[in-house]
Amino acid sequence: MSLRKVALISAGSTSYGKSLLTGRDLALLAAKEALERIEMMPYEIQGAFIANAFGLSERQGHLGPLIMSGLGIPDIPASTIEAACSSGGSAFREAYINIAAGVYDVMLVVGTEKISHLSTEVATTYFTFGSDYLFEGACGASFPGLYATMAIAHMQKYETTQEQLAQVAVKNHENGMKNEKAHLHKRISVEDVLQSSIVAYPLKMYDSCPFSDGAAAVILASEDYLKKNGRDESISILGSGRAGGYGSLHSRDDMTSIRSSILASREAFNRANLSIKDVDFAEVHDCFTIAEIIAMEDLGFVERGKAAQAVEQGRTRLDGDIPINPSGGLKSKGHPIGATGIGQVVEVFEQLTENAGERQIKGAKIGMTHNVGATGGSSAVHIFTRS
Ligand SMILES: CC(C)(COP(=O)(O)OP(=O)(O)OC[C@H]1O[C@@H](n2cnc3c(N)ncnc32)[C@H](O)[C@@H]1OP(=O)(O)O)[C@@H](O)C(=O)NCCC(=O)NCCS
Repeated sequence: MSLRKVALISAGSTSYGKSLLTGRDLALLAAKEALERIEMMPYEIQGAFIANAFGLSERQGHLGPLIMSGLGIPDIPASTIEAACSSGGSAFREAYINIAAGVYDVMLVVGTEKISHLSTEVATTYFTFGSDYLFEGACGASFPGLYATMAIAHMQKYETTQEQLAQVAVKNHENGMKNEKAHLHKRISVEDVLQSSIVAYPLKMYDSCPFSDGAAAVILASEDYLKKNGRDESISILGSGRAGGYGSLHSRDDMTSIRSSILASREAFNRANLSIKDVDFAEVHDCFTIAEIIAMEDLGFVERGKAAQAVEQGRTRLDGDIPINPSGGLKSKGHPIGATGIGQVVEVFEQLTENAGERQIKGAKIGMTHNVGATGGSSAVHIFTRS
């Protein structure tokens, strides 16, 4: 089946952090920002996907009709996509497929999460529902604990050190300082990371993303529709990939890699007819510092076991040869679960339209997003270019 060309035409986002608003209201703010940015009336939207993982903690499911009603378009179909931390990337992928297949011409994708009404202990418990709960969460394994297990495996296999992990956090906090919408605005040192409280050995507080509220929204359209309506294409979506993987760590042969990331990126690059060498920057899933190291190796930015050195050499900084997480990533920008994957696309939009301010990567033409569900039960990868 031949797919139609799909463009990313607008993006909007709330600030990430602690909010008194509901997930629904955060979603409306992000969606309105995306619509207003291109002076698009809500009635031009033909369908929507909502990324949300923990709405039930607010006692609110079925968010789609509420968000569409809030936009004044209650007749428009909107379904919620839940894929743990990759809900956003998965919802984006569904909208891409719907437009590429010719079902719709214009779609809205909104990711939202509200979690700050829960204590750290309760939120940690809720999040374990995204693991293999019977074998992991119910036995006491939290997400920090599961990623700590992966970190230990990586340290044993490749001699990765805690100092090298800390450098990922230092770099992402540095980038987050340049992002006014980031959750954590704090410049930190390797020493700060090493001395922060242990969450699950070897991961410490500054190795971890925070619990964030927030929402992000993007608008996709077929290039046919844009031509017919005299609108700019802005950004083209060159490749989309999505893959599944074992939902539990104990089912895997190797804990130093996430197979769904490898498969999703392979699909995205095949569809785009590009290779990782063509990518100018990436927003990758750094829920913990070790996750960024593993992502760099799975996506092929560096050889296996070489990511930590690349970070140490400054190669992933904004002025390095492979800038990673210019937004500050999940680590500093924050991780409002449902919004995260869409927020990554928002950053790509800002970079490729040269609206990223102080964190602008000069001359960036091709950007990618990488969004992982839980410890890798699913992943989504997308590749974009400026038109
Ligand atoms: C690291 C963690 C345990 C800290 O929780 P906590 O000790 O209850 O921290 P609090 O929310 O009380 O915040 C205390 C301070 O630390 C800061 N803080 C919280 N989490 C932080 C983090 N991850 N990194 C840096 N600073 C953090 C807060 O901003 C706050 O600062 P302030 O006092 O200046 O306002 C918690 O953020 C966590 O579990 N993160 C991982 C979330 C997760 O598993 N997500 C799913 C990934 S798959």
